[in-house]
Amino acid sequence: KAKKTSQYELQTFTGWLLRKEQAGVIDSELTIVLNSIAVACKQIASLVQRAGISNLTGVQGATNVQGEDQKKLDVISNEVFSNCLRSSGRTGIIASEEEDTPVAVEESYSGNYVVVFDPLDGSSNIDAAVSTGSIFGIYRPTEECLANLDDDTQLGMVEQNCIVNVCQPGNNLLSAGYCMYSSSVILVLSVGDGVYGFTLDPMYGEFILTHEDIKIPKKGAIYSFNEGNYALWDDKLKKYIDSLKDPVPTGKPYSARYIGSLVGDFHRTMLYGGIYGYPADKKSKNGKLRLLYECAPMSYLAEQAGGKGSDGHRRVLDIEPEQVHQRVPLYVGSVEEVEKLEKYLAA
Ligand code: AHG
Ligand code: MN
Ligand code: MN
Ligand code: MN
Repeated sequence: KAKKTSQYELQTFTGWLLRKEQAGVIDSELTIVLNSIAVACKQIASLVQRAGISNLTGVQGATNVQGEDQKKLDVISNEVFSNCLRSSGRTGIIASEEEDTPVAVEESYSGNYVVVFDPLDGSSNIDAAVSTGSIFGIYRPTEECLANLDDDTQLGMVEQNCIVNVCQPGNNLLSAGYCMYSSSVILVLSVGDGVYGFTLDPMYGEFILTHEDIKIPKKGAIYSFNEGNYALWDDKLKKYIDSLKDPVPTGKPYSARYIGSLVGDFHRTMLYGGIYGYPADKKSKNGKLRLLYECAPMSYLAEQAGGKGSDGHRRVLDIEPEQVHQRVPLYVGSVEEVEKLEKYLAA
């Protein structure tokens, strides 16, 4: 917990960014990208909190590349995120859950960084005002981003170039984080030297440092899975889940907690410990969550907090993406809980 001195000595996110830049942990361009992401999250927070008033609940009436019925707020959050990143002038390529393919920022605004994001995570919960969030990851480009967009012969190459720049393993992440829109609006991120949490003070619209150096407890008796899919799971996974419900070893079974928003379930896991899982099943061979802007950023944060992110057999951060919207199974949280799961799957 940040030491509470006086109300006015608390660290704002802006101040924290400047200190990280002065310390040379991030450069001035990445500082600007992160600040633009914080602005996007504040805008989305206010849109989400007033959704019912401004008629922004419900569906857009379109489906995205994932085949999901887009909510109005999926589309608007995507526009908010894209515009903030674009106007930062430091972003070259963006990939979003809500965009079919990665988008190169036109030359006049183009900068160096590659940003992948899920603008509104858990959007099925939005009409019931249950926690939702935004998730992001930031990479350096792997090759020169072709900035020249007007020559359409290059368009195919630019698109290919963008896909190459976006499809990087999580090991290459320079920064990742999420903003949770819940009873508090909390921005949680890492720039490679631990995980920090900032709570939005609605009185003056600043993110205030409230969680310094978050560490996931080594173990935790909470499991977070959608057990509605139990019948479709692999037998070894069923054995693992059954073992968590057996009160004999410790005198009481694990608790089940499932919000249905990755950001909400993950944030609780970061602070309380336990394991969140979205397994593959007979219907979805690779599970449901997307590697680039859900599984890799969350696994990066988990590892920065002393936890673990696995697809059941290997580190999520080692997985080389082939497609932008590729799905992988995800098991993430307390290192002892994830390793226990991996042992069951390897048996
Ligand atoms: P999104 O709303 O960005 O499409 O993500 C939804 C994801 C994730 O947030 C959540 O954990 C999971 O879908 C819930 O899936 P089920 O409803 O199948 O449990
Ligand atoms: Mn979606
Ligand atoms: Mn999501
Ligand atoms: Mn989403």
